[in-house]
Amino acid sequence: MESLTKVDYGTSIPNNVNLADDRRVLKALEKWHPGYIDWWMSMGPEGFQNNPVYLRTAMSADVGGWAKFDYVKMPDYRWGILLAPQEENRTIPCGEHFGEPAWQEVPGEYRAMLRRLIVIQGDTEPASVEQQRHLGATAPSLYDLRNLFQVNVEEGRHLWAMVYLLQKYFGTDGREEADELLRRQSGNEDAPRMLGAFNEATPDWLSFFMFTTFTDRDGKMQLEALAQSAFDPLARTTRFMLMEEAHHMFVGVTGVQRVVNRTTQAMRDAGIEDPYDIERVRALGVIDLPTIQKKANLHFTLSLDLFGSEISTNAANAFNASVKGRYREDRINDDHRLTSDTYPVLRCVDGEIKLVDTPALSALNMRLRDDYVRDCMKGIDMWNKTIKKNGIDFEIILPHVAFHRHIGEFSTIKASPRGDVLSEAQWEEKQSDWLPTKADGDFIDSLMTPVYEPGQFAGWIAPPKMGIDNRPGDFEYVRL
Ligand SMILES: [Fe+2]
Ligand SMILES: [Fe+2]
Repeated sequence: MESLTKVDYGTSIPNNVNLADDRRVLKALEKWHPGYIDWWMSMGPEGFQNNPVYLRTAMSADVGGWAKFDYVKMPDYRWGILLAPQEENRTIPCGEHFGEPAWQEVPGEYRAMLRRLIVIQGDTEPASVEQQRHLGATAPSLYDLRNLFQVNVEEGRHLWAMVYLLQKYFGTDGREEADELLRRQSGNEDAPRMLGAFNEATPDWLSFFMFTTFTDRDGKMQLEALAQSAFDPLARTTRFMLMEEAHHMFVGVTGVQRVVNRTTQAMRDAGIEDPYDIERVRALGVIDLPTIQKKANLHFTLSLDLFGSEISTNAANAFNASVKGRYREDRINDDHRLTSDTYPVLRCVDGEIKLVDTPALSALNMRLRDDYVRDCMKGIDMWNKTIKKNGIDFEIILPHVAFHRHIGEFSTIKASPRGDVLSEAQWEEKQSDWLPTKADGDFIDSLMTPVYEPGQFAGWIAPPKMGIDNRPGDFEYVRL
């Protein structure tokens, strides 16, 4: 059994899909490879391409002990094609084809739909690498620098994962899409990335931690939905990606936790009780809690927009076609077809926010978003525990889903983080209390000076509880 999941490092492209015997696809990927390396060198992490980094590389697709840690220069990272092991006799978990055997090939009628989903997922992976490429210059420690690069190489691998599916199952148009994935660029005016949040800047490390907390978690939910796909190679690919994705959210959630820990420790030591005494808190060289809340508000709401419209025929069609499932579809106890079910959706009715029962099929984006919000709360709870432990009276909240939206039901109204509908004038007056201002950004920026000494940390962030791969506190995660 083990040999089936083990990664073959003998071919130019490491894989556990037997590429050695699949010459056509191996050739296509080898042809795509130089363009990928060009992209990595010009759009990937800036300034550290020649430094050995202590990174994990996947050695098998088994849940236990799949990764091996070692020093590697990022351009030499062995980006590979890894699928979770094939489940014997897997049946389709939802939709019109519920109960039928999973597909090993793409059915003609769903080809366009599947290709579109794979391309949209694929587009987000290199986008985040592009967004984060300047952060190495201001890393608060070698530990954090290494974590950034681990996330970056794995997002690169996720691009490979999607490109493999395109090259193997979608012929000429798959090849064209694979090239387009290297042509679009985050924030580029002529050829931007496909989704809004992936064209925003990630200007500082607090943004990076918020991005990996909230936007990588959106990625997790989308992957979870694809992991239920009737198209088995897609389901297996995304299942393995989810194993890597867990680390990205760990980096985000513990990153913010270390920031609030440092802030509240410094406040306590200086005898500052009022979290809104912003000037005095900032004078300590730490980021005040209200600014951290504003950053959370921004990244959470940009990520909510990624779920699309609350009511969506696209989502209904994909589910009906069995191409995409719900979060943990295989653990839900219902008919998995949803043709006569309803689901409560928060809607904007005559300018008011109301819960409305809606056909469950067209509310699937909303349902996934509800699962997402619940998942986000785990991180928020951790942050609040840390604040409380340090004796400061403040609670970070998740804003109401109607707040600061650009897509869906609430994009046409203005609402406060508590969910009160506001006039345009009220919004204008209050928005700088709720979203980061230029001055907030400038202050955070002023703290972003690099710390590259092993075991040392910038003054605005606490050290982690534990090292990566159980390494000691002064471990040299990146050799400069
Ligand atoms: Fe990813
Ligand atoms: Fe990620």
